[in-house]
Amino acid sequence: MRVHVAFTPAEEVFAPLGIVIDVLRATSTITQAIASGYDRVLCCAEVDEARAVAAASGSAVLGGERGAVRIEGFDFGNSPREFTGTPAAETLVLTTTNGTRLLLAAAVRCETVLVGSLLNLGALVAAARGSGAADVAVLCAGVQGELALDDSYTAGRIAEALDGEATDSAAAAIRLARSFGSHEEGLGSSKSARNLVEAGLEEDIAFCARESALEAVPRFSRMVGTAAEVR
Ligand code: MLT
Repeated sequence: MRVHVAFTPAEEVFAPLGIVIDVLRATSTITQAIASGYDRVLCCAEVDEARAVAAASGSAVLGGERGAVRIEGFDFGNSPREFTGTPAAETLVLTTTNGTRLLLAAAVRCETVLVGSLLNLGALVAAARGSGAADVAVLCAGVQGELALDDSYTAGRIAEALDGEATDSAAAAIRLARSFGSHEEGLGSSKSARNLVEAGLEEDIAFCARESALEAVPRFSRMVGTAAEVR
């Protein structure tokens, strides 16, 4: 299996299997929501679009952030800790600054799209290996187009665990990840983590750093209007 890492969304990768990473926090939140029993997450790029999708979706709640903070009028922010209990509805409609947009882009370019995080690392790697795909691309959301250390760190851990034929970028991600002593240190080194600290959401960093705490491996299933449905 060839393993590639795209450090920023500007790299337009077409691959049979794409693994999307926005570890702080969109893909950790999606994984937690599906693990807790939400039937599906509808990922939207824009706030108004998310409101319209939720209004048309029956049993649905709205989650998301801009600047790490919950969007006005939304039921939830983008903290995975908000989705640990009994689901508040069948559908979570989610919009985030970088992560949901990456998922929408990956849905166009990859035959299969899996949602990755440290929370589901073991199950994710097993699913990717079991897929039989000859070519796997680990796609990092980054922050507003730039490389993000938290996503690059996580991509390195995933690439290492996949243990395939690493491209130079995958090898670079693996070396980067090995330079940190722990998941919390790897995530904590990033600007995304500093943004969470500033917003008083630092508990999310340790929460998202828990390796293989969940078995759920959400995957893109279809487009629902302009939203990417993940189950
Ligand atoms: C994003 O999509 O940019 C992130 O998940 C931001 C956040 O931490 O909420």
